Amino acid sequence: MKRIIPALFLALGPALPAAASETIYESIKVDAGQTLYDAKCRRCHADDSTDPSYGPPLENIVGRAAGSYPDYDFSVALEASGIVWTPAALRAWMEDNDGFMPGTKMRHVGITDRTVQDFILAYLGSITTRDGSAVSE
Ligand code: HEC
Repeated sequence: MKRIIPALFLALGPALPAAASETIYESIKVDAGQTLYDAKCRRCHADDSTDPSYGPPLENIVGRAAGSYPDYDFSVALEASGIVWTPAALRAWMEDNDGFMPGTKMRHVGITDRTVQDFILAYLGSITTRDGSAVSE
């Protein structure tokens, strides 16, 4: 027992503050991502399905099959792409969407800064868990 308790303390003690600061860091990323999303994506993409706009809503986008949002008229390129929106695919899309997928009707956005991509991804991740029932996989 004498040996286990300090070992547990060593294992768990430092982990708690680190986890707490990670949560704070994550929420700062999400906030920054929302600001960037509002500036760079929001005019064409609602963040939830109750508020339609020119592009498909992006709620639950992480892990969604490309071109699968119901009732949205996707380009053939996107619909037939067969890809799933993993974080890596979303990065490639933000960086050079029409190079990544020729024939898409989304106008070129060239977000090459990895930190900006990180922030937007954090925000997209945060709207991915909001309501899984509203969007099909
Ligand atoms: C000028 C309008 C416009 C802007 C700005 C824009 N998009 Fe799009 N986006 C579209 C359109 C239109 C489509 C549908 C493309 C197609 O069908 O080929 C689309 C499709 C997408 C898709 C695929 C969705 C799916 O269901 O498969 C993702 C992901 C996406 N956009 C992310 C973003 C992100 C992230 C930003 C901001 C960095 C952004 N878009 C900025 C118009 C826009």
